[in-house]
Amino acid sequence: MTAACVIGWPIAHSRSPMIHGYWLKRYGIDGRYDRVPVRPEELDQFLERVREGEYAGCNVTIPHKEAVFGKVRIADPATRRIGAVNTVYRKDGELVGRNTDGLGFILSVKSAIPGWSADGARVAILGAGGAARAIVAALIEEGARSVTLINRTLERAEALARHFGSPVSAAPWDNMQDRLSEADLLVNTTSLGMAHNPPLDISLSSISKRTIVADIVYSPLETPLLKAARARGNPAVDGLGMLLHQAAPGFELWFGVRPEVTPELRALLVADLEAAR
Ligand code: ATR
Repeated sequence: MTAACVIGWPIAHSRSPMIHGYWLKRYGIDGRYDRVPVRPEELDQFLERVREGEYAGCNVTIPHKEAVFGKVRIADPATRRIGAVNTVYRKDGELVGRNTDGLGFILSVKSAIPGWSADGARVAILGAGGAARAIVAALIEEGARSVTLINRTLERAEALARHFGSPVSAAPWDNMQDRLSEADLLVNTTSLGMAHNPPLDISLSSISKRTIVADIVYSPLETPLLKAARARGNPAVDGLGMLLHQAAPGFELWFGVRPEVTPELRALLVADLEAAR
């Protein structure tokens, strides 16, 4: 039986087992997807178990994404630029790491807005943390025309803009309206708007009616930002799509089937998120 898992510390709240469990059943695969708590000091030992074949691979979440990046082979340029890994698989006896978060975001927007492409898009991103980093790398890969990082701590956005180079630039949080008015896509990657956090308190009055507004927060599913966007008639993309789509490449690598993000899977997750509130 092929097995994969998700590692993190803590790991109890990960929804990856629900996603992969759904796909294993749907495709009738004799496989297993475990939730494995791994303390930082146990990481090397765990990766050795994967190397020896106990698992076909794993998803990696907080706090291990950067540490795993330094311990496995990185094969693709986007992951190298991100500096963090969320998916590990075995190839020729070696562990290979990828980051599928940014691609998951792109696929999520594509599936919510048919016909949308990042190619040529002007994007404004709120936040400059790990999630922003993964999304920027994927946007560049897909040919975005410009990416502006708007962050409370400007230096952090500037450092990230330098890291990626053109077409990425940084802008201060307190003076974001000009940047928003130029955006085809606005993405919130901060934790603002998440349950138990303050809402994201920004004005959407300067954005165009066509600007797509996306949030990577998925609890609640409709954040105050998305609610405000929908009220203005703007297309809105919630954070659940990114969670679902980032999972697909790992499943394919471990179990050999490219899985589909179905409405049924989405409904399963929505019900689970509702129950947890
Ligand atoms: P992740 O890896 O999930 O992106 P992170 O690295 O902790 O998480 O980044 C969180 C982001 O949310 C940062 O951009 C942070 O801004 P700072 O760089 O200034 O810390 C942003 N953020 C968190 N709380 C915020 C708040 N109250 N107002 C504005 N931005 C906030």
